[in-house]
Amino acid sequence: LEMSYKRLNEINLSNKSVLLRLDLNTPIENGLVANNERIVRSLPTLSYIIEAGARLIVMSHLGRPEENNSFQEEFSLSPVVKELESLLDKKIPLHSLDEFENLSHIPEISVIENTRFCIGEKTNDTDLSKRLASLADLVVMDAFATSHRAHASTTGVITFSSDACAGLLLDEELNALSKVKEESKNSVAILGGAKISTKLSLINSLSNYMDKVILGGGIANTLIAAKGYDVGKSLVEETMLSEATELLENPKIIIPNSVLVSDSPDKPGRITSIDAIAENEAIFDVAPESLTSLEPIFMNAGTILWNGPIGFFEKENFDKGTIKIAKMITASKGFSVAGGGDTISAAEKAGVLDKLDYVSTAGGAFLEFMEGRKLPAIEALKEKVN
Ligand code: 3PG
Repeated sequence: LEMSYKRLNEINLSNKSVLLRLDLNTPIENGLVANNERIVRSLPTLSYIIEAGARLIVMSHLGRPEENNSFQEEFSLSPVVKELESLLDKKIPLHSLDEFENLSHIPEISVIENTRFCIGEKTNDTDLSKRLASLADLVVMDAFATSHRAHASTTGVITFSSDACAGLLLDEELNALSKVKEESKNSVAILGGAKISTKLSLINSLSNYMDKVILGGGIANTLIAAKGYDVGKSLVEETMLSEATELLENPKIIIPNSVLVSDSPDKPGRITSIDAIAENEAIFDVAPESLTSLEPIFMNAGTILWNGPIGFFEKENFDKGTIKIAKMITASKGFSVAGGGDTISAAEKAGVLDKLDYVSTAGGAFLEFMEGRKLPAIEALKEKVN
């Protein structure tokens, strides 16, 4: 039996103080939150704790500031707090950790500044972890997207807390992602993105537990080159050619045999078979027509995992492959999960964001979980069950 963690509904929250770790790491443009998806997806846990009658202290990191105990405006959670105030229709004070520790009265809800301002955050420092843990009766971990980081605010704080449990989003993420990992009958993975080096171990583990692994984007270019074809000016990772050759021997792995090439990403592409790419051309997309042969795989799929655009989808001339894949995924009756990096923007551009069965809020944590790696924050939560 797999050991699990405590959930919110197992704990009496009334009159307790709760330290809630969220992942509110969102893009900020001109002092405003440019995409509030992670904030919106954290609302159920926030509301649950507030309605249960607990005092709530929220913490998160934002970006990658200098870890030097000083305030850095560019990385302040201030825009996030403004967004949260408007979503919850409440005034929410924002304090540095020092300020918060010196408050004479703990507000009903408050936010602590960017945890990455604090020296000791990234080294999972014991003193910082204990300081954080002592702020509240209970630690609730809901930052699934940061659960792959063994930091003081994600891991140490749980270890040194009096009690800790998972939030609603973290639990929901793990359930949806586990479903794809465990129910692997007629399972299909589609992986895109630029570099094979960052995804090699993911491809290797997916090809163990999924039935088909369809590759596109720069990842596929390196396999096409490893097959011995001339790929012209395409993005290829020369140092990965021998690993790519090994992958080609795996019958589960599918690469495109027809692609869109051009001598510039700003010019329209030409459809060609992978054995006829000219010296001055680069691959910018999978030829959408060639994806039709994959339709039966999607139609019969039980579970579908999607990570990464399969072409240069930011450019209008080369977004058709990704859009076609997105449509094939959502036309299937299979349970579909998308996550990691650019996948959400790709799904948004293809107009399928709300048609996918589950969209993960996580980037790196999504990939590490799918790879089968242990996530330190989740391990710390499990260890709190005794
Ligand atoms: C993410 O956006 O993937 C998480 O918030 C983690 O951020 P990090 O890669 O800077 O640790």
